[in-house]
Amino acid sequence: MATQPNSPDPRSRLIIHDLAQRNGHADFARDIRRGLTSDPKHLFPKYLYDELGSRLFEAICQVDEYYLTRAEDEILTNHADEIVASTPNCKTLIELGSGSAEKTRKIIEALIRLRGELLFVPVDISASALEESSHALLDSYSSLRIDAYAADYFQALEALPARDESPALVLFLGSNIGNFEQNEAIDFLRAIRRLLRKGDALLLGADLKKDRATLEAAYNDSLGVTRSFIVNELEHINRELDANFDLWAFGLRSVYNESLGRVEVYLESLRPQSVVIGRLDLTTDFKAGERIHIENAYKFDPEDLRKIGEQTGFQLERTWLDRRGRFSSNLFRVSE
Ligand SMILES: C[S@@+](CC[C@H](N)C(=O)[O-])C[C@H]1O[C@@H](n2cnc3c(N)ncnc32)[C@H](O)[C@@H]1O
Repeated sequence: MATQPNSPDPRSRLIIHDLAQRNGHADFARDIRRGLTSDPKHLFPKYLYDELGSRLFEAICQVDEYYLTRAEDEILTNHADEIVASTPNCKTLIELGSGSAEKTRKIIEALIRLRGELLFVPVDISASALEESSHALLDSYSSLRIDAYAADYFQALEALPARDESPALVLFLGSNIGNFEQNEAIDFLRAIRRLLRKGDALLLGADLKKDRATLEAAYNDSLGVTRSFIVNELEHINRELDANFDLWAFGLRSVYNESLGRVEVYLESLRPQSVVIGRLDLTTDFKAGERIHIENAYKFDPEDLRKIGEQTGFQLERTWLDRRGRFSSNLFRVSE
């Protein structure tokens, strides 16, 4: 089935491939068992984004301390036309980890101004965020078609169909790249590269290294929205795996590890406690002060990004910064 260009009925311009459903529950149970029986304990950032988690992330984007979204939005507002002009004839826009796709509107509008119509291929592990954002975008743009994938990044990169000859632009915004370890980031960019042809482009949003106070506050805001977002992963485990985490018994600790250039995000047990995870037939004990590692958010220098590009078949063509120099949008071109 193909989507219908310019149809007044938005539903006829949308296909959602729900790959996240396949094995989703079994993968979740296996990963949670693995993380909570490891020493030190850890959980996986992708499971932060259930339906409520996706909404809480949108709320984080509104808090004062989380400057990343506003800084990237400023860059896209000011430079979307230049960004899309660098990939003339682009008819396909692919976005990995698209979330609400609010910032993406700047790029979509610039491409529609240039080309009249567009196929948008968003990929997100959160089926609810994908569905909601797809409907909102189709209501806004009558010449937009959407072929969406509810899937893990790597799963979607393998499942995407071969493209026609027209150039594509891939977006990976929000400094999501910072959640990967360096070897994972390289594997990921190589997987994107395999999808692309010479001349195609990748716009990568990457947060820059800066002072500790700004970085730590961005991942532990004073309203407590980030804590709610992170602790919601425990609620997700309670709900899906019949566990009894007491959400008040864990505090959020976000620490900038300057030598590794990353903010490390942990939940810390506030007292000794035992948690029963019924469906895993597992009891896990916590000492007071024991931490569960949730995610890392690596921060970059422009030089780091150029090198990562070179290792993965991309050439860094241009970098834009916000006015205060906090965040970078980097346009990479397929180089070989
Ligand atoms: C930090 S949010 C960024 C959202 C949006 N791109 C932005 O810049 O505001 C990360 C997004 O990536 C999605 N995500 C996280 N891990 C993922 C994975 N392994 N595969 C696919 N999507 C993932 C989340 O559901 C969420 O929408």
